Amino acid sequence: MTMQQPEASSAPDAAAAEAEPVPRNEDDGPAWCVVADDEPRLRQVLTRLMTMEGFRCAEASNGVEALRLLGQHRAALLLSDLRMPQLDGLELLEAAHADYPDLAIVMITAVADVSTAVQALSRGATDYLTKPFHIEEVRARVRQAMEKRRLQIENRDYHDQLEARVREQASRIEELYRVGIQALVDALEVKDLYTRGHSVRVSLYATTIARELGLDPTMLEQIELGGHVHDIGKIGVRESVLNKPERLTPDEYQHIMTHPEVGYRLLAPLLAHAPVALNVVLWHHERVDGQGLPHGLDGSGIPVEARITAVADSFDAMTSARPYRAGGFITVEAAIVELRRCAGTQFDPHVVSAFTGLIESGRLHLPPLAPQPGGTAGVA
Ligand SMILES: [Fe+2]
Repeated sequence: MTMQQPEASSAPDAAAAEAEPVPRNEDDGPAWCVVADDEPRLRQVLTRLMTMEGFRCAEASNGVEALRLLGQHRAALLLSDLRMPQLDGLELLEAAHADYPDLAIVMITAVADVSTAVQALSRGATDYLTKPFHIEEVRARVRQAMEKRRLQIENRDYHDQLEARVREQASRIEELYRVGIQALVDALEVKDLYTRGHSVRVSLYATTIARELGLDPTMLEQIELGGHVHDIGKIGVRESVLNKPERLTPDEYQHIMTHPEVGYRLLAPLLAHAPVALNVVLWHHERVDGQGLPHGLDGSGIPVEARITAVADSFDAMTSARPYRAGGFITVEAAIVELRRCAGTQFDPHVVSAFTGLIESGRLHLPPLAPQPGGTAGVA
């Protein structure tokens, strides 16, 4: 049937039986269709047709009313004439597409308006019909539009789920990686009980200094990690040396000082994405006067994260009891004096200044330190 002023099908029951299932609304009823046309008869015909297709329908005689009904019913389909009073079809189309991106929109136009109809497609219409139209054509176009809408929603949901799954897996990988690192830290702690509290404190001090110096959050995260694992290479140090209560011989000192490079080699495959943390591991025993280990870097040639950790590490070594230091530890005040004495030779003066400033102003709360007083500094 072709209509300038169309009529509904003469066999509605048969048509309804052939119809694809109409999507459900939020209230689990059939989906809503808004029919917008300023001509009542055409509106009624389309409404009747869409009702037979299984939709609940709401009629609007202009664009403003159509927009209100779309929002009120959370409609799935808009059938709209292009020429209407107040808000015309194209304006309605743009507003509806912007507000309800999942809405299927079929525009209806006269033959003479084909170029406008093409324009409508470029502005977000799903399809368009030209008058006069066949009822079967309306049905087919609406079903196509609804199928396209369904596929778009499915596609978007699939991408959302995929993204959520990727995020979940990335988080799982991150967790496994942390478990792997923690296993190494645990293994070292079994050999060297001192390391546990030491690594946590060095990480805290270094992160606090880095924040004080204005380093960015990514650096802070990696410095925190670097502090936790900076001595991991001591896994490769003999326990007899690691836990020796007496002063170390030169050979034993050389042996223990292999730990930055051993740690670096151990962690490099795991921390490829965290080069700042690796720098902490490899260079936390470098000195600004170039007399440090393992590479004798000097001044700003030593990455700032390693210069920061060196100060944090030495401060904790001085203020904590250690097996290879005969006398235990020195007071915080004495350690500050020692840091200042070594600023410019062993340590970066700016880092020492930031750290001592944090302690003396009370902005760094020192955690409980080791219990035995007295003694000299050893190998951190
Ligand atoms: Fe160390």
